[in-house]
Amino acid sequence: MHSMKDRRGTDLRPAATALLFLAMVVAASGAHAQIPDTFTNLKVLPKDISKPALIETMRGFSTALGEGCDLCHSEKAGGEHGMDFASDAKHEKETARLMLKMVADINGKYLSEVKGVEPDERVTVGCITCHRGLAIPHTLAETLSLTLAEKGIEGTVKQYRELRDKYYGSGAYDFGDRALPSLARSLAKSGKAADAYAILDLNAEQYPKSPTSEFTRGEIQAEAGERDKAMESLKKALAISPGFEPAKRRLDQLTKGESGEREKGPGSGSTAAPAGGKSPASAASSAHP
Ligand code: HEC
Ligand code: HEC
Repeated sequence: MHSMKDRRGTDLRPAATALLFLAMVVAASGAHAQIPDTFTNLKVLPKDISKPALIETMRGFSTALGEGCDLCHSEKAGGEHGMDFASDAKHEKETARLMLKMVADINGKYLSEVKGVEPDERVTVGCITCHRGLAIPHTLAETLSLTLAEKGIEGTVKQYRELRDKYYGSGAYDFGDRALPSLARSLAKSGKAADAYAILDLNAEQYPKSPTSEFTRGEIQAEAGERDKAMESLKKALAISPGFEPAKRRLDQLTKGESGEREKGPGSGSTAAPAGGKSPASAASSAHP
């Protein structure tokens, strides 16, 4: 444990505290009492696993996926009260078995082969690494894109607000000031400029002091050949954050383009991209305050 802390600068104690808290909650809820002392349908976990170890594993699943035991376990049949933990009635339980095998392979077959890491300093992948408290571990951009396709921009903005209320600070989603701009970029690339600008409006509302929204807007406008609008947006980004280098550079390029590189016809937008093959997004993140 102490070597983990040394290498990553992370103190693992808060996680231990959270587990203890969960243990107290589960003990108090009486779920413990329902759990049989012997297990009859273990196909992946060791058949002789102790009861405390099994319970800890199951709580780990619940925490990692942000769901109760009933995500994977069904009620007893015939209206009887309580859970039938041995039953395989839910396909989620079968999926969890698949995941257990997958995680064992990730750690055992692949991560164990990574060179240059001391054995006691290896990072272990667990359910939480991907799931982050979500049953379906989509990123924020994926979740919002799916909603956009289904419900349009209004539904998407609404969903963002709801997700932010529910999950902010939990690590389930990245609500940083660059998450929505990166979604806006991919929307613009697939020809959905209006949606992209709406997403940037939402970001500007969330992060009025970040230049990223106006910078991204300027980039999208520049790509679309809307040079004047682009310059205006970039100036707004610089008004928010005068030292923001990517906006300075982009504005500079567009200003120079005024005298020399204007008459290039279609595709001239892309010639204005930062040199060196660096994408605007990576330029923005590397220079971001
Ligand atoms: C993400 C899915 C998932 C969640 C959530 C989950 N379990 Fe499980 N549980 C499983 C799987 C998968 C097995 C079977 C493992 C195997 O086949 O080796 C299992 C097995 C069990 C067993 C052994 C049943 C038997 O007799 O074979 C018990 C008891 C159990 N779980 C209790 C719980 C409790 C209590 C919770 C809530 C704190 C919980 N589980 C949450 C997936 C889950
Ligand atoms: C490498 C990333 C990764 C890890 C690690 C991982 N999962 Fe998953 N899991 C996924 C993805 C991706 C999905 C969604 C699959 C889909 O629906 O396309 C998923 C789906 C699931 C589902 C289905 C949820 C539902 O509501 O349908 C369960 C249950 C699940 N995982 C359990 C686990 C458990 C338990 C562990 C740890 C033993 C685990 N996962 C570890 C990536 C991961």
